[in-house]
Amino acid sequence: MLTKLMGWIDDRFPLTAMYNDHMAKYPAPKNLNFWYFFGSLAMLVLVNQIITGIWLTMNYNPSAEGAFASVEYIMRDVDYGWLLRYMHSTGASAFFIVVYLHMFRGMIYGSYQKPRELLWIFGMLIFLVLMAEAFMGYLLPWGQMSFWGAQVIISLFGAIPVIGDDLTLWIRGDYVISGATLNRFFALHVIALPLVLVLLVAMHILALHEVGSNNPDGIDIKQHKDENGWPLDAVAFHPYFTVKDMVGVAGFLFLFSLVIFFKPDMFGYFLEKPNFEVANGLKTPPHIAPVWYFTPFYAILRAVPDKLLGVIMMGLSIVILFLLPWLDRCKVRSVRYRSLLHRLNIAQFVVCFVVLGVLGVLPSTPTLTIIAQICTLGYFGFFVLLFFYSKNERTKPLPERVTSK
Ligand code: HEM
Repeated sequence: MLTKLMGWIDDRFPLTAMYNDHMAKYPAPKNLNFWYFFGSLAMLVLVNQIITGIWLTMNYNPSAEGAFASVEYIMRDVDYGWLLRYMHSTGASAFFIVVYLHMFRGMIYGSYQKPRELLWIFGMLIFLVLMAEAFMGYLLPWGQMSFWGAQVIISLFGAIPVIGDDLTLWIRGDYVISGATLNRFFALHVIALPLVLVLLVAMHILALHEVGSNNPDGIDIKQHKDENGWPLDAVAFHPYFTVKDMVGVAGFLFLFSLVIFFKPDMFGYFLEKPNFEVANGLKTPPHIAPVWYFTPFYAILRAVPDKLLGVIMMGLSIVILFLLPWLDRCKVRSVRYRSLLHRLNIAQFVVCFVVLGVLGVLPSTPTLTIIAQICTLGYFGFFVLLFFYSKNERTKPLPERVTSK
């Protein structure tokens, strides 16, 4: 019966062909390690955000008068509303943790290099849309930090010469952040951006499956094939990596549940304390900081004394990531076979990024500003140095076949 039904469908829609291309007959390098968990985890979190988001929307009221109270209503009166909200708010932070680790994996194994440049670009577009999605979602609870955080970020556009003031007015839909702003952010957060995200993720996976996965050795597994054309160093994605990914899912869900059930505000980092108070346009909180996942970029903005230049540098810090495939001119992909200089450069980049993240949460002082400036230099220095040394880098010999370290 089942075979007949599948045959009927396959005559009309390429279901089995798609399943084979992307799962059962997708050749995945057999040396993929734990760093490769984060792609499937990002998909899991995306699904979590969409499903919990739909259910939150059923009881949320997108108006300046009702938003805060409706979130309280969800937390107290809606059946399992607290769980839905905490899964969604923790999911937002988890998304960025997973995506940052996913991007870092790409950096250390050179997964952005030829022929995966477009895959990387799709990833970066996902990252951009994800940031917009998180920023707009954060206004919705209409708490003090929602309001003032949005105020600070939207006012940055005002630094742009000539069009700045009109642009901020256009984004807000009002002279101040108001119900009109909340309404448009709601529309973008709930439907427009998730649609774009899902589309981009589909393109990301299609681009990946077109060129094939990179691997921790960074070598091409298509060089050695058996008589059927199957790469000798590959195993079928399903069942081998679906099972392996389940280990990552189990570990992730353990940590995710710990946060949701024991520390949903994560000491004020996932849900900030001022956001338990309703938005008040007449009362500025003593210290305004964006949520932790934006703070490295926010710290770059604050490190530059001039507002316009700060905005430009912050924009550049993201644009430069798009250019990574062309800034790295080395023929060898994986950090395993690259020079000591490259390893040190990656290490200093990570330190600078993390320190910037910490500094972005703290109120700025003259000493902290100097540290932020040094780290900003380290952040951009990574790319500039890479461009120069990667051309003639002294690399180690590559293995013929993948190794399993
Ligand atoms: C919603 C967010 C994202 C989802 C759902 C997602 C999903 C995936 C999946 C399932 C894979 C294959 C499994 C793996 O290699 O881990 C993958 C690979 C990859 N992703 Fe993403 N991704 C996302 C965001 C990003 C971002 C922001 C970047 C970087 C800018 C990126 C760059 C890459 C690269 C370079 C690969 C190939 C890695 C390799 O073969 O070594 N992805 N992605």
